[in-house]
Amino acid sequence: MPGVAELVVEGGHPLRGTVGVLGAKNAALKEMAAALLAPGRYVLTNVPRILDVELMIDVLEHIGARCHFEDHRLQIVVPDELNPEAPIDLVRKMRASIVVLGPLLARCGEARVALPGGDDLGARPIDMHLDGLERMGATFELVHGVLVGRAGDGLRGAEVELPFPSVGATENLLLAGSLAKGETVIVNAAREPEIVDLAAMLTSMGAAVEGAGTAIVRVTGSPGLQATTHRVVPDRIEAGTYAIAGAITAGDVTVTGCHPEHLRMELAKLEAAGAVVDRGDGWLRVRGPDRPRPVDFATLPYPGFHTDLQPPMVALLSVADGTSVVTENLYDARFRYVGELARMGADIVTEWQHAVIRGVERLSGCPVLAPDIRAGAALVLAGLRAEGITAVTGVQHIDRGYEDLEGKIRSLGGRIERRDAPGDGPGSRD
Ligand code: UD1
Repeated sequence: MPGVAELVVEGGHPLRGTVGVLGAKNAALKEMAAALLAPGRYVLTNVPRILDVELMIDVLEHIGARCHFEDHRLQIVVPDELNPEAPIDLVRKMRASIVVLGPLLARCGEARVALPGGDDLGARPIDMHLDGLERMGATFELVHGVLVGRAGDGLRGAEVELPFPSVGATENLLLAGSLAKGETVIVNAAREPEIVDLAAMLTSMGAAVEGAGTAIVRVTGSPGLQATTHRVVPDRIEAGTYAIAGAITAGDVTVTGCHPEHLRMELAKLEAAGAVVDRGDGWLRVRGPDRPRPVDFATLPYPGFHTDLQPPMVALLSVADGTSVVTENLYDARFRYVGELARMGADIVTEWQHAVIRGVERLSGCPVLAPDIRAGAALVLAGLRAEGITAVTGVQHIDRGYEDLEGKIRSLGGRIERRDAPGDGPGSRD
């Protein structure tokens, strides 16, 4: 699946039709880690076949679980004894593997997880994860690049106030708190739908979780957690990507298998850009404007505009009839792709966390390099709008987060093909 490839896009064909989305990458990865909390046989359904899920399977298998993944159904068998370790070659490939830290400490009283360092989106520290786990009784030391955590007497519930509603820190603490003695209270918790979904899985395992989806989450640990079956919440980023694809091609795209209420802000901004958006129970439909109107927006934690949909939205606004200002509040390096969009004719100036996008009438296709997952999707979308051929390399990033992006776009009438691209390989990432 991943590797030496490029996506070759022929622009100018409006996308029309219906496309289904799968479960959320950002929920599935954490729910896979949740399985480490108790032995037994877990089944996760609606799991996307993407590279990050395969990488998390490698992490779980290294720790001692056995996984079987078929037809979007992932079975995980977790043994009584675990090897509480995530080595650097696995963590480096996928930074989200840090989420095993909380479950391993809670279950085994120790964890050795290689320090993730930076990634495609910048420095990405994990101080909030560690501060919170320390409040619960863990200690950490860094030994030759490996974070060694200990909680010899087990973790105990604590009140942890996060300085920022970090998704990953909230999840790590929620997972750890599910096995800790007593009550853990996470104040200023992240409120993302993926956290609500993780809490639902933990509840079905026997943890007592209250307030998921609000800024104060309480979890009372239970020593008797049990394996469970859980359906992963729909991927709002995948849904949002196809919604914006409909708009940027002035097409008519219906997305099914999604929760439009998880995309309120993003759909409101699409409407402000001139798209006609209809939504119902489990579906949404976007009919694109011929030429988008300019829109200003800022990325923020949920329910604000999701940072992961910022690049596709900027691609849309690059052909707007006027100037848009976009503020990125989550990641330092999230505008790295705009240089590639500029090669296609976009007029974008970035300064620190702001981008000023002067809409141009047309983009023109050319070879571009995807620096990360969502920027990759944005470049494909820009290619669908552009005149001529756009060849997107760095496809291994796109494969981390999208199952069969090109097949789904083709099913909507888009012209896109995957080809071998000599000279570009996985070495170009991270
Ligand atoms: C998750 C998502 C990612 C999404 C992000 C924000 C996964 C696998 N990834 O990432 O797609 O873009 O939420 O919605 O679910 N921070 C610190 N210290 C910490 C933790 C975070 O400074 O200990 C900073 C980060 O560098 C970043 C910000 O807080 O600037 C938000 O990070 P966080 O919410 O933790 O995102 P992730 O969980 O890493």
